[in-house]
Amino acid sequence: MSSRTPRARRTPRAPRTPAPVPFTFTFDGRPVTALPGQSVAAALWSAGILAWRTTRHGGAPRGAFCGIGTCYDCLATVNGRPNRRACLLPARPGDAVTTQEGTGHDR
Ligand code: FES
Repeated sequence: MSSRTPRARRTPRAPRTPAPVPFTFTFDGRPVTALPGQSVAAALWSAGILAWRTTRHGGAPRGAFCGIGTCYDCLATVNGRPNRRACLLPARPGDAVTTQEGTGHDR
């Protein structure tokens, strides 16, 4: 018995899409690999980095919480600009992401 049924032959094959090409940006000087379309937060999570900000009071570590742009826990300094929401910001090749301490203007 054939494994190909008449129904399977009529079903069109999905077009092949090229594999996404990874790129790198840096986090506190360390290279981080990301995929096109990935947010900075997603790329950091994928690299095992869960915190990239400290709070103004107490210096507690923070990373992504809501992941949809409403809580502002994921603020990071990207290319020298503080207070960028990492969960909404697409990672780009060559970006320099750094840990944000406090308001991002404290250094
Ligand atoms: S994780 Fe909540 S705004 Fe980014």
